[in-house]
Amino acid sequence: MAKDPVRVLVTGAAGQIGYALVPMIARGIMLGADQPVILHMLDIPPAAEALNGVKMELIDAAFPLLKGIVATTDVAEACKDVNIAVMVGGFPRKEGMERKDVMSKNVSIYKAQASALEANAAKDVKVLVVANPANTNALILKEFAPSIPEKNISCLTRLDHNRALGQIAERLDIPVSSVKNVIIWGNHSSSQYPDVYHAVIDGDKPVREAVADDAWLDGEFIKTVQQRGAAIIKARKLSSALSAASSACDHIRDWVLGTPEGTWVSMGVYSDGSYNVPAGLIYSFPVTCSKGVWSIVQDLPINEFSRKKLDATAEELVEEKQLAYTCINE
Ligand SMILES: NC(=O)c1ccc[n+]([C@@H]2O[C@H](COP(=O)([O-])OP(=O)(O)OC[C@H]3O[C@@H](n4cnc5c(N)ncnc54)[C@H](O)[C@@H]3O)[C@@H](O)[C@H]2O)c1
Repeated sequence: MAKDPVRVLVTGAAGQIGYALVPMIARGIMLGADQPVILHMLDIPPAAEALNGVKMELIDAAFPLLKGIVATTDVAEACKDVNIAVMVGGFPRKEGMERKDVMSKNVSIYKAQASALEANAAKDVKVLVVANPANTNALILKEFAPSIPEKNISCLTRLDHNRALGQIAERLDIPVSSVKNVIIWGNHSSSQYPDVYHAVIDGDKPVREAVADDAWLDGEFIKTVQQRGAAIIKARKLSSALSAASSACDHIRDWVLGTPEGTWVSMGVYSDGSYNVPAGLIYSFPVTCSKGVWSIVQDLPINEFSRKKLDATAEELVEEKQLAYTCINE
């Protein structure tokens, strides 16, 4: 029997990531080749015409799994009964803008969209925040949608995770599918810590042994992953879009359908104090997922080198949280 359609919201759907993401969702890449979907697309009024163009292209692509399209600039209508919400819309940092000004704009967007989701979405909606500052936007969304369980609110660090897998595969000249269990700790920013101490290739061979170059792993590798977003902008004159969209599909697919046995992924989730990360931050951890629920992988040994990096990125998130609260209270 055919499954009931799942309603998937994409905010900022007229933007670059949105344009790459909506066809992936409509093709079953996010939720599976047998899962019909209804796409809800939100953007702001200046982008309404472009949004309508995206809708026209979705119709023209005749995706068999796509059972309906809601394209709107009305946030309540966009959020109505959605089961999955991918929050890509936000206010970008423009040249000359202070960090606080960008934070202030995004805090007000995420506060308003949290209320709209709370009032209109399905009670068990799963939320993925992509728009930057992703961790703090997700935290604001959590704070202002108290009836959405905190386990249902996350942010995207899977792109960084996939970038780390890609760098190891390139270095060893092996397929990326042979590498697993890297970890992105912390913030989706250049303070993130891409950790390969527990990563393996071909099932069980430690990456550190295979690479046999600690100086590269502790230096250039980490920097390359941290700075990859900037390198893409330099090369493309536009920020990463297809890789961000693909990673957003990976994030939701693994969350909903489960991670493979023996494999973990990185997700920005609400910290419960695991690994001595301050509770109450949205922080990227290694997680496994089963039956639609993520769990932080516990008891991985953390050496002194890693500890410092876990703490540094947590500190940045504490500062971002304080800045966000200053903006709320002004
Ligand atoms: N977490 C990650 O790994 C990751 C990776 C890449 C990009 N990003 C972030 O994703 C976001 C989107 O990137 P992009 O390249 O698609 O940007 P973009 O500027 O091309 O698109 C953003 C879209 O959001 C819309 N928008 C703005 N405010 C909105 C609101 N209040 N409600 C709904 N829509 C709104 C804009 O009109 C625009 O169409 C940015 O914040 C970017 O920094 C995150």
